[in-house]
Amino acid sequence: MKVLILEDEGAATARVAGIVARSVRANPAAVLGLATGGTMLPLYRLLRDMHRDEGVSFAQVTTFNLDEYVGLAPEHPGSYHSYMREALFDHIDIDLARTHLPRGDAPDPTAEADAYEALIAGVGGIDLQLLGIGRNGHIGFNEPTSSLGSATRIKTLTTETRAANRQYFADDETTPRYALTMGIGTILAARSCLLLATGAAKADAVARAIEGPVSAACPASALQMHARATLVLDRAAASDLKLTDYYEHVHPGGGESEFD
Ligand code: GLP
Repeated sequence: MKVLILEDEGAATARVAGIVARSVRANPAAVLGLATGGTMLPLYRLLRDMHRDEGVSFAQVTTFNLDEYVGLAPEHPGSYHSYMREALFDHIDIDLARTHLPRGDAPDPTAEADAYEALIAGVGGIDLQLLGIGRNGHIGFNEPTSSLGSATRIKTLTTETRAANRQYFADDETTPRYALTMGIGTILAARSCLLLATGAAKADAVARAIEGPVSAACPASALQMHARATLVLDRAAASDLKLTDYYEHVHPGGGESEFD
């Protein structure tokens, strides 16, 4: 794992934006796995700016989002379809026909999950998978005890995750209970993974993901099994790590190591 520790949220987000832009410049037809959540909003703002000011083009990029709430149509304001349009897609030159999220309102969510998995395989897999992390260590909506080999499927959200997402819905009753999410196996199949975590609320999950045992109790710890996983952290999110001196020795200032 590459552990890059940046001074603050702005620097960590800019580091991730730089890696995404570099990937798209190197491979204009890259297949990107995208994430949602509050952490990604400043990242998507930066990518919009880089598109506008620096000519970073997404015209040939294909995207697959990690997840969507079961029961929500794409037009629902709380859906991840809406989130992606508002945060990114409406502001860049991406071809919407090449953007993919699971349909939360699919009549048969299990068939939708299988079709989503097949669609990813059909384009040859994901080149770069962006990830956030939940306070309980989830990636996508793979809650603790998710199989480390799982494929796209329906997951029941934990009470904690529902509480964290409650702010985006009118009331508790309308806050979704289920999600369609790429599995941990799907995520691990991406050619590289890039996780962004900012803020002290993520410190415990980040420490368990990086320095804890590989365990379904902390789904993000599965990234220890990935040969090309980069975790970009701000100081607050890195504050529970024990081997900080080593990470900073290898990647001073969150930059590349001598051998990268
Ligand atoms: C959500 C998403 C995850 C995201 C996580 C953290 O539930 N499904 O993909 O990484 O929770 O969200 P935030 O960045 O808002 O803390």
